Amino acid sequence: MSIKSNKTAWINGVLATMDPGITDNDYGLLRNKAIITEGGIITAIVPNNDREVGTCKIRIDCKGALATPGFIDCHTHLVYAGNRACEWELRLKGASYREIAESGGGIQTTVQATRAASFEDLYTLAEKRLAAMQSEGVTTVEIKSGYGLEKSAERKILEVIRSLKAKGTIDIAPAFLAAHSVPPEYIGRADAYMNLICREMIPEFWGDGLFEAADIFVESIAFNLEQAEKMYRTCAAFGIPVKAHNEQISNIGGSALLARYKGRSTDHIERIDEAGVKALAEAGTVGVLLPGAFYFLRDTRPPPVALLRRYKVPMAVATDYNPGTSPFTSIRQALNMASTFFGLTPAEALAGVTRHAAKALGREHTHGILRPGFHANFALWNVKDPVEIFYELGPNPLQFIVFEGDIHPS
Ligand code: NIG
Ligand code: FE
Repeated sequence: MSIKSNKTAWINGVLATMDPGITDNDYGLLRNKAIITEGGIITAIVPNNDREVGTCKIRIDCKGALATPGFIDCHTHLVYAGNRACEWELRLKGASYREIAESGGGIQTTVQATRAASFEDLYTLAEKRLAAMQSEGVTTVEIKSGYGLEKSAERKILEVIRSLKAKGTIDIAPAFLAAHSVPPEYIGRADAYMNLICREMIPEFWGDGLFEAADIFVESIAFNLEQAEKMYRTCAAFGIPVKAHNEQISNIGGSALLARYKGRSTDHIERIDEAGVKALAEAGTVGVLLPGAFYFLRDTRPPPVALLRRYKVPMAVATDYNPGTSPFTSIRQALNMASTFFGLTPAEALAGVTRHAAKALGREHTHGILRPGFHANFALWNVKDPVEIFYELGPNPLQFIVFEGDIHPS
């Protein structure tokens, strides 16, 4: 009997709803409540002994397990070929990320491997990485293009993402990141490459429904503010939401510019200043913290969490899974690092992979909270307290995930 198509009661769970409307505790915890689902949606949250539970065709006993919203990894570069282990070794012998990038390695290494890979190879590699993420409670993942940097290869990556999404086992938010790096063919001609992005790639790929938001790496080693603004203007004309990698290595004012275009999220932001944070607050832009890249690049300057708190900028947490700066699929590791390196409280960290990550992807009215009307995406954990989900790495306390009302793996 299909769970999804029948009215189902998930009884005897402890619910970490992450609903800020439930104000008497950090996690929006509810006890002795059942989640009712039908057609992939949470239709009600009622006491375990409510009449409504009796009307359900299916009853699933969660036996005291902790339910959280399905986790949302709102920043990944999951479709690529090859790896950069050799560059890691070079960095461990003293080379810097910037030096490697400037000598033609870094993102370009992955671009060469990804251009050469077939659709099928990219699909198979990505599928395995997605399975690893699901095994830690992830039900929504953002995936960026950006290792093609030419029309055909960027399209190939976006089509791989579309096929992964069509499988229907995980919610995917595709992001267009041709402005990840200046491709080898355009070295010294970044403006011309930006023209190609704005005049051809954005209109064609958007027209084909291949992405939900456009992203750009705004940095001294990538694109400058003028080029970013050109892309934001093009996107505004099409109604395309924008986001950016900002203030990871230096501060050239990327977040403040993005805020002027009401960006959905500004990501990394280790080097953002107070004016930038203020601009984010005014624009309602989410700050996405990426502790995996901070760790793997051996950065020593954490993002200004106290400032972000003071200005009430929503903070999301993501893996930034990619072969160069964050080769980690583990959202539990990202949560652990966000708390240990950046000082997020466990409740802030969990909000960062649920409701705030949903906002970063424009899904704040449908995902990231256990609440009637929201998608029936949740994770069941064998833990007593929410912090145990990411306190211990190695043993995985996930029991199972529910995606669109069905148990996965079924
Ligand atoms: O998010 N900052 C730019 N992009 C990636 C790194 C990509 C790479 O090195 O391959 C990041 O850290
Ligand atoms: Fe990134």
